[in-house]
Amino acid sequence: MIKKILVINGPNLNLLGKREPHIYGNDTLEDIYKNMRFLNPNYNIQGVQSNHEGELIEHIHSTLSNDIDWIIINPAAFTHTSIALRDALLAVKIPFIEVHLSNIHQREEFRHKSYFSDIAKGVICGFGAYGYIMALKYIMTL
Ligand code: DQA
Repeated sequence: MIKKILVINGPNLNLLGKREPHIYGNDTLEDIYKNMRFLNPNYNIQGVQSNHEGELIEHIHSTLSNDIDWIIINPAAFTHTSIALRDALLAVKIPFIEVHLSNIHQREEFRHKSYFSDIAKGVICGFGAYGYIMALKYIMTL
């Protein structure tokens, strides 16, 4: 079955590759999407990024009319702040995997709290860009 997956990335992740590479690595978002599509060319994998909370909410709402099977989301800094994004994910009821490039638990205390982890299917953090591949591999086992 062709699965449709929406990969949602939050603020500042458009700068991946240039942004603090010692923390977030050298891969760009396009590299990440390319590697995911290479792993499974049969899936329909769409990638979106926004620096705006409202736009990210619209992307989550759009899954209802687009028959999305799974969401893979890195909410970036909104992980630690956004009840609105959490509510959007609860509203659409599409299963999702939370991904972070860095190990947020090894970092500043304000990054330890996530508004998503308790409602996610699972959480992957600390494996850099490979975390997105891990999330996809999980979906492929279903
Ligand atoms: C991040 C971790 C967040 O704390 C941070 O604000 C980000 C990226 C990660 O992928 O490691 O922007 O989600």
